[in-house]
Formats: sequence, structure tokens, C-alpha cells
Amino acid sequence: MKISIVGLGYVGLPLSLQFAHSGVTVIGLDVDSAKVEHIHAGRSYIKHIPSEVIEEMVKAHKFSATTDFSRVKETEAVIICVPTPLNKNREPDISYILDTGKNIARHLQKGMLVVLESTTYPGTTDEDLRGVLEIGSGLEAGKDFHLAFSPEREDPGNPNSQVAIIPKIVDGYTPACLEKAKHLYSQAIKTLVPVSSCRIAEAAKLLENTFRGVNIALVNELKVVYDAMGIDVWEVINAAKTKPFGFMPFYPGPGLGGHCIPIDPFYLTWKAREYGQNTRFIELAGEINIGMPYHVLDYVVKALNQHKKALNGAKVLLLGVAYKKDIDDLRESPALTIIELLQQQGAVISYNDPYFPTIGKGRKYDLQMKCAPLDNLGQYDCVLIVTDHSDYDYARIVRESQLVVDTRNATKGIDSPKIVRC
Ligand SMILES: NC(=O)c1ccc[n+]([C@@H]2O[C@H](COP(=O)([O-])OP(=O)(O)OC[C@H]3O[C@@H](n4cnc5c(N)ncnc54)[C@H](O)[C@@H]3O)[C@@H](O)[C@H]2O)c1
Repeated sequence: MKISIVGLGYVGLPLSLQFAHSGVTVIGLDVDSAKVEHIHAGRSYIKHIPSEVIEEMVKAHKFSATTDFSRVKETEAVIICVPTPLNKNREPDISYILDTGKNIARHLQKGMLVVLESTTYPGTTDEDLRGVLEIGSGLEAGKDFHLAFSPEREDPGNPNSQVAIIPKIVDGYTPACLEKAKHLYSQAIKTLVPVSSCRIAEAAKLLENTFRGVNIALVNELKVVYDAMGIDVWEVINAAKTKPFGFMPFYPGPGLGGHCIPIDPFYLTWKAREYGQNTRFIELAGEINIGMPYHVLDYVVKALNQHKKALNGAKVLLLGVAYKKDIDDLRESPALTIIELLQQQGAVISYNDPYFPTIGKGRKYDLQMKCAPLDNLGQYDCVLIVTDHSDYDYARIVRESQLVVDTRNATKGIDSPKIVRC
């Protein structure tokens, strides 16, 4: 079997490697020629994916990459894994999906299968994507070509997470499309979960991520409430999670990050408005989560104040800028908002993150900072732990710092008056 996978990012690259590893020949397509060059050279550009795995598949002629969309013609199925961000008005931006659909349409052949994996609102596959594919190709979905949606369940940074063993939801525009999609994924994925329509699968993915967003908001709110009561929320959660049924632990933090949880719920709220429906619960969760960096700012101000210092002019070192521990992904990271908020108040900010030698220009920020060495910690008025990377020696950090504000409970078990947990 020969397939193409469009978008070789955090989702598309591991998926390509999984198919290749299972014996399927994969042509990876991306508009980013740098990624294509990396793959040809057998070099990984994602920290948790070893270069050797790419090199092995490239050498075995199971995986190649190109920017040339006409290569789609050589394959029997195309899987789309392109970004689905929000635009500056916080509305869904499915332009990457539509552009990809138009590019595929020019080369679509009878009998081919097109699967969308990008997270999006219900109706994207059978309305929006189907529309551009049919108009661009002159072919009809469900009759001339097959169409399906199968959401990705990637857990970056989790060493036990493997594409092959995570159950995968699949659906089809027609029953025949579903059969085709099942056949495709059964090459590489152990457990498939067929559902009755593309909209069910799209909605299921949004439920999964909204569930996380809402529960994280709940513990973020509880953190503030319990803190006012002098109760340690981390100990509370650890106690509650011993309940063997009906409870699942979520942990507070400095705010949401990544390409999924801060974004996906708003795909749902936007679509709901089309049906005259309000999503107050989801929006409230978003409001609480978006407010967390401001809460961190308050804590830093209070902590410095206790040391008779003002934030204005204070030297602050941020530890960890990735949106979660042990990964090299900065997208939507709350660290970026926190840096900006602290700088607005006149703080002099440095950062350290083993995964980011520099921070440049992102979608929202242009910070142009260089990673500071993790020495001479006593020079900073405050060391602020934003991301609890496993590589850090927290005991040493506390020992050598004047003041540590910890947003992740990374200093758990360390008893020191220098630590302020928030
Ligand atoms: N990262 C995750 O953990 C995760 C988990 C589940 C679902 N998702 C979803 O999967 C989708 C992809 O996310 P990601 O994290 O892999 O994004 P990413 O930004 O890491 O990768 C997307 C890739 O698509 C390429 N691209 C953009 N436009 C293109 C086009 N028109 N044609 C070809 N290539 C194009 C980009 O160059 C990039 O390499 C999103 O919808 C996301 O919500 C992501």
C-alpha cells in the first residue's frame, strides 16, 4: 500500500513513521521545504522523535518527503494533518485544510481515499472539505472517491504513548468510505473505533479536548480558592485521586498551552452559535484558564513584596517556556504571556529552557531572547518555575536562589521558606 500524508508536524510525522514501520510506503507532503530536507537527510526536527527512526525508514524506501502535491497521484489514500488555529478574532481558521483540499483536488483519482485528521468543528469534512475536493476535481465524494475523518490522539512528551496502540476513531462519509478508512488504518493501528458519521468523530474529538479544558479550569479555580483558605490544592488532588471510581485527576498550572486544549473548545463554541446555542460553561472555563498567567503575575508581585522588592526593575528568571514538561513545543505556551506581562510591569526577564536555545517570533509574540545559563541563580530577585522539565535539579535551584515561585508543584517535598507555591 502507498499513501500520502500532508503536514509533517507533531501529528503527521509520527503517523508517517508508524505507517512506514508497518510496511506501508509513505510520501510525506509539506509546504515547508526545510522539513522535507530534514527528512531526506534522516534528521529529526521534533525532540521526542529520534533521527535514527526517520533515517531507517528513509533508507528502507518506506518514507520520503516532498513539496510536490502531484505525487498524491501515486497513492491510494491521502491523510491530512495540517494546522487548525484560531484567527486573531479567536475564530476557527480552517484555511490550511481548504488549501490542502484544493491542492489534493487537482490530483484526485477515482477510487482514492481522503482522510482528515486535523481537529475541527463538526461539518468540516462532509461540507467544507468535501466542497473543495468535489469542485476542484469534478469527482463526487462517496461515489468517485472516498472521504473520512479520523481524529489524532497524540500525547507529546509521554514516553509510553505510541501511535499504534492508541485506539483510533474512524468514520466515513458513506459506509463504503468507512470500510476504506478502516482498511487503511488497520495497517498501522491496533484498535479502531468505527462511528456512524464524520460529524460524530469530529464532535468526539472536541469533547475529549473540551473535557480537559473544563477540568483544568476547575482545578485552576480550586487552586485560587483553596490557596485563600490556606489549603494545599496539590495535596487535595493527590488525596482525591485515590478514589478508584468517578474521579480523574487534573492539575492546576500557569495557564493552558499547546495546539489543542487552548484552541479546540473555541471551534465548538463558534459552531454552536450557528445553531443559536450558547456554550457558557466552555467559555467560562476558557476565561478561567486564560486568566491564569495574570494570577501568576500577582503571585510574583506578592512574593517580591514580601522580600521588600518591587516587580519594576526586578530580575526574574523563568524556568521552562515549553507549554508542558519535557517537550520542545512553544505553541500557545503561557510562559510567553507571562514574560510579556512581567516585562510590561518593568521586570527584567531572562529564561532558561533546555529545549529552547532561543525564543524568536511566534504567532503572537516577538521576544527575541536567548536561553540564560542555569548558574549564578542568586543574581535573580525571583526564579519563576513555569514548566517543570524533568532535567532540572529543583533542590539545587531552591538552594541557590533567593526566591522561587513555583507554578507546577515542581518543588514538592522540598521544605524551604524561599518557595512560594502558586
Ligand atoms: N500536536 C498535537 O499534540 C495534536 C494532537 C491531536 C490533534 N492535533 C491536531 O492535528 C493537526 C495538526 O497539528 P500539529 O500539531 O501536527 O501541527 P504542526 O504545526 O506541528 O504541523 C502542521 C504541518 O502542516 C504543514 N502545513 C501547513 N499548511 C500546509 C499545506 N497547505 N500543505 C501542506 N502542509 C502544510 C506545516 O508546515 C506543518 O509542518 C491540528 O489540527 C491539531 O489540532 C494535534
